[in-house]
Amino acid sequence: MKMHSVFGVLLLIIIPVLTDKINIMKNSKMESWISTENFTTIIKKSFFYAKCCNIFLSESIYDVDTLFHQFINIYPREYVLHKIIYDCRGYFLLGPTDEEIEKAIRVVPSSLSTTEILVIINGELKNTSKLFNVSLFGNSNANIVSRSGIWTLSENYLKPRFFFKVHSYEELMSEFNIIDMKGRELQVCTFYQPPFSYLNKTIKKIIDGVEEDVFLADSDKEKDGIEMKIFLVMAEKLNFTWTIRKLKGKYRYGRRINSSYWDGGVIQLVLEKKVDLAFGNVRLTPNHYEFVNMSTPWIQMLTKFLVPRPQPITNFWAVMRPFSMDCWILVLIMIIAKSMYMYIRARVDPKFPKRFRSFFCTITELIGRLVGTWVPRNIANARFELHLWQTAGFLLVTAYCSSLAARLTNSEYEDRIDTIRQFLEANLLWGHEGPVPYWPDYVDVDDIYASQLSSRYTPVKGQEAYIHTLIEQRKFAIYGFVIDSIFFPEDDIFKEHIKNYRLMKQSTGNYYSSFVIQSWLLQHIDMVMLWLRESGIALFHLNNVMHRRISFNLREVVKEHDGFDGIYKRLGLTPLGVGFLTLIVGLLASTIRFFYELKQASNSRSIREVFRDIQKKRKMYKSSIYKKNYHKEAESIDHNSSNKNFDSFVIKSVNHTTNTESTQKYNDKIFHNNLGNI
Ligand SMILES: *[C@@H]1O[C@H](CO)[C@@H](O)[C@H](O)[C@H]1NC(C)=O
Ligand SMILES: *[C@@H]1O[C@H](CO)[C@@H](O)[C@H](O)[C@H]1NC(C)=O
Ligand SMILES: *[C@@H]1O[C@H](CO)[C@@H](O)[C@H](O)[C@H]1NC(C)=O
Ligand SMILES: *[C@@H]1O[C@H](CO)[C@@H](O)[C@H](O)[C@H]1NC(C)=O
Ligand SMILES: *[C@@H]1O[C@H](CO)[C@@H](O)[C@H](O)[C@H]1NC(C)=O
Ligand SMILES: *[C@@H]1O[C@H](CO)[C@@H](O)[C@H](O)[C@H]1NC(C)=O
Ligand SMILES: *[C@@H]1O[C@H](CO)[C@@H](O)[C@H](O)[C@H]1NC(C)=O
Repeated sequence: MKMHSVFGVLLLIIIPVLTDKINIMKNSKMESWISTENFTTIIKKSFFYAKCCNIFLSESIYDVDTLFHQFINIYPREYVLHKIIYDCRGYFLLGPTDEEIEKAIRVVPSSLSTTEILVIINGELKNTSKLFNVSLFGNSNANIVSRSGIWTLSENYLKPRFFFKVHSYEELMSEFNIIDMKGRELQVCTFYQPPFSYLNKTIKKIIDGVEEDVFLADSDKEKDGIEMKIFLVMAEKLNFTWTIRKLKGKYRYGRRINSSYWDGGVIQLVLEKKVDLAFGNVRLTPNHYEFVNMSTPWIQMLTKFLVPRPQPITNFWAVMRPFSMDCWILVLIMIIAKSMYMYIRARVDPKFPKRFRSFFCTITELIGRLVGTWVPRNIANARFELHLWQTAGFLLVTAYCSSLAARLTNSEYEDRIDTIRQFLEANLLWGHEGPVPYWPDYVDVDDIYASQLSSRYTPVKGQEAYIHTLIEQRKFAIYGFVIDSIFFPEDDIFKEHIKNYRLMKQSTGNYYSSFVIQSWLLQHIDMVMLWLRESGIALFHLNNVMHRRISFNLREVVKEHDGFDGIYKRLGLTPLGVGFLTLIVGLLASTIRFFYELKQASNSRSIREVFRDIQKKRKMYKSSIYKKNYHKEAESIDHNSSNKNFDSFVIKSVNHTTNTESTQKYNDKIFHNNLGNI
């Protein structure tokens, strides 16, 4: 509406947007002072980028009628009258005097460097005209044609700008493929950020009345870094000189306060037009782009985490590891099922070995046969079942043993953290030195796991001690980016901790890195950037810098240390824990049993007396044996049989006082087991 009222002064005729060209041609009768051929040249030279044209006519239509019709006859694209379509970029202003035109120009968005303006004055133009005030034209490209002369505005990248008079339409400007800034000094800003920029040494310098730290950039070692190299090529190609100031303040890129206000960092410097260009791994995101113009990116990078390396562990239940839980459960179910079968079969089938009529005996024997340790000979009528059972047992035990040996002699490690989900499950925290991230720039907010990363964030600035403890407790992940398969932590302070970290496989996102620039530079920087990318020069500098500057440490993080290292471990106590536990429980159980039976046998007597009794009888027995053997040949003594005889003798004598036959039999067996090897 506002636009309309301003132009209302200038407008006389209201022509619908795409006027029928043939009708208009019929109306133009007068001969124009610019030949068709020359007009074509003017249009070609003036509108290079414009996709369409916004036309403004002065009030006095009859004065410019011929020129206007000539224009629409020649102009090859679409045009609109009395409206502004910002995307068009082309502006044609036609009038008899400069005063009306000057008013109209104030409405043209001239701060954009891609705006193209053509002014035709149907009359004389004095070189003192207000139209030659270059501040009216901002960063745009402009040509002025009048009966008294032709002027063109100097390049927008050279300050100060001025109009200069040319003598032929061929000399009008707009199309500049090769630009030459003729040594103009650009204000640039960056900071120390390997591998992008290694500038570090500074000196003090007054710029626009403010003291600034300016990078000295006096040696090749300083003027290094991938983006620095790219910047130097741009400076050479566009022929500009530079002063690079060091970024002040606590934030590198700054942060968004609200939709119209940005605080700190290089973005604010460019926004306030204090610098013309800034670089240092700036992300090309909608968030940044809403505030400043950014160049075509030169690379895409992945963001990743370094996570603590898995530590070696010794597990008490290590002997259980060869089989999964499912396998163990299946083995247990099979033992029970088979025992039931044997038990029921023994009850029903009289020819089946009688010992299977006890469920407990069955289960013990089946376990014994499964692990191949206990094999009673009598398997009449159950030969087939037991044979199969034992074969299966053999396979299971062999598999178990070989797997166990391999596992126990190699180091066992915690599980690796390789996905965002595992990251969350491991309760890791992460953080960086800048302000709390603007989340859509950092993580995929639509992913259920990645979106939770924001809740694991803790700021680093101001709580370094806490972060250090977290790192020692292996509760902190280091955030960074991967470039050319090398990981760089986003903050330098984490560099020393890297050796205890490894690279998490899943990336958390990716971004494009580009330069922040003033809009008038955009087109030229983009052109050089595209050229650097297409020719592979950007890639060359990337590889070159990486090759020269990357320390061994940064390459280490992709190596895994939790694999087989070629060294076989000696077995400690813990991994064999379950084995020892079984031994101890077994021993304890049999000892308790033994004492319990001694107690039973002793009745009211004390245990000591029982032992004395046994001792006495042993002596008596020995002397009797000795007497017997005295008569026989000494070599023919069978130790085993003598032992057996002795056992039953002792037991019989001990049990002399007990009454029932069955108890005696039972004790006999137990004593045999316990004392057999005396
Ligand atoms: C304007 O033109 C007059 C002659 O036409 C000339 O003397 C004068 O120097 C010019 N001024 C500028 C600023 O070019
Ligand atoms: C140019 O225009 C600006 C604002 O439009 C004004 O401040 C300045 O005085 C003008 N310069 C001349 C030389 O007229
Ligand atoms: C207009 O075009 C003619 C040739 O058609 C050329 O000789 C003449 O120099 C041109 N005029 C200008 C001002 O360029
Ligand atoms: C760069 O600018 C300087 C200073 O104006 C000029 O002397 C030089 O010729 C220019 N270099 C190129 C390659 O155009
Ligand atoms: C940067 O310069 C400062 C002081 O000039 C120095 O202490 C620091 O070590 C330098 N950093 C690097 C990485 O060279
Ligand atoms: C944005 O924040 C600035 C500074 O806090 C404030 O002055 C401004 O009014 C805010 N603008 C909007 C649209 O909220
Ligand atoms: C430059 O940035 C401004 C402000 O964000 C935006 O309006 C303009 O469209 C951008 N220019 C280009 C060429 O993208």
